[in-house]
Amino acid sequence: MSTREPTPAHPGGPPLGDGTRLVHAGDEPVVPGAPLRPSPVFAAPYHLGDQPPGTGGADGYARPDNPTLRVFERAVGELDGGDCLSFATGMAAISSAVLALARPGDRVVLPSDGYYTTRVLARDELERFGLRVELVPTLEIGDVAARGDLEGARLVMLETPSNPQLDVCDIAAVARATSAAGAVLAVDNTTASPIGQRPLALGADLTIGADTKALTGHSDVLLGHVSAARTDVGRELHARIAAWRKTTGNAPGPFEAWLGHRSMGTLDLRLARQAANAAAVAELLAGHPAVRGVRWPWRAEDPSFPLARRQMLRPNGIVSAELADIDAVLQLVRTSRFFLAATSFGGLHTTVDRRAQWGGDAVPEGFVRFSCGIEDTADLVADLQRALG
Ligand SMILES: Cc1ncc(COP(=O)(O)O)c(C=O)c1O
Repeated sequence: MSTREPTPAHPGGPPLGDGTRLVHAGDEPVVPGAPLRPSPVFAAPYHLGDQPPGTGGADGYARPDNPTLRVFERAVGELDGGDCLSFATGMAAISSAVLALARPGDRVVLPSDGYYTTRVLARDELERFGLRVELVPTLEIGDVAARGDLEGARLVMLETPSNPQLDVCDIAAVARATSAAGAVLAVDNTTASPIGQRPLALGADLTIGADTKALTGHSDVLLGHVSAARTDVGRELHARIAAWRKTTGNAPGPFEAWLGHRSMGTLDLRLARQAANAAAVAELLAGHPAVRGVRWPWRAEDPSFPLARRQMLRPNGIVSAELADIDAVLQLVRTSRFFLAATSFGGLHTTVDRRAQWGGDAVPEGFVRFSCGIEDTADLVADLQRALG
């Protein structure tokens, strides 16, 4: 299921696959006697000697930039096809992208059905700064764009596939509209991951990731990033967001950056197993009489399937479905061995999250988001069969 990068290793050579790109992303050419990957550099200030800060490109202070962050950002930027800035969390990346660009009075269009904390950010913080926030469903943003209604917007953010309902919208079509309207298009690419979808190649100005999820994939680190397109607009946005991060100070520490880089090397393998597990779990759920509304954008029956197949590069492990009620979800969690009750997604472990318990999503009480992990498919299927009865 792995996709291949159009850029070959050598001019005229074969294109590189995801596995190769991920293992080598960000690395300098090997040096005999040196480790394959540099260790994290733990420093806040750097020794200046008798030189002014920044002399010959030397580091002075870790907040704006440091060697470990640079390597990690180079790696993620390579995957996205843009210039990356890493943040302490996914929400730090999203809030920075909005707040670095928008001014009081600006119209900002956000998804009404994406990750709910983005809506909390809009309601509790952005409106306080005088931004005019408009919430549009993922399935409607294409029509809004086609009608020319993005005219006058400063920033449009999409989340596709949306979390948790897994609707998909056409990034390239919205990008044409935002570009014509002089608006910035940012895409929250978290559910897809940088190897599952390349928003910058589809015309977005910014792609955003909550790297807490599949990119790092071990449920042990919080990280986020924004990558900007390598265009004049993208370079300007990158400079603005970098300045914002330097001043507000929400960069990750070197340990997190190093751990993120260390973890992402296996994304190709993890995503392949997670997707295989999701295909089996979705099929089983869809065939069960007590389960409704199964969503996995790569099931041929899914309403997102035609667009997902055209726009995305590969599937992942996130499935959503509606069980009868709260008790049915609790029963599933109690009786299964491997479907662990936990929020977040994209990790090694299979998890099930009853979204209504968080109060942010407009979903029924029995609506669950499954994040299929990397366990053996047969074990998950047997466990789920037993638990559903
Ligand atoms: C789609 C999406 N974007 C952003 C975030 C925020 O990420 P973080 O929890 O790292 O701040 C999440 C977290 O669940 C998410 O699902």
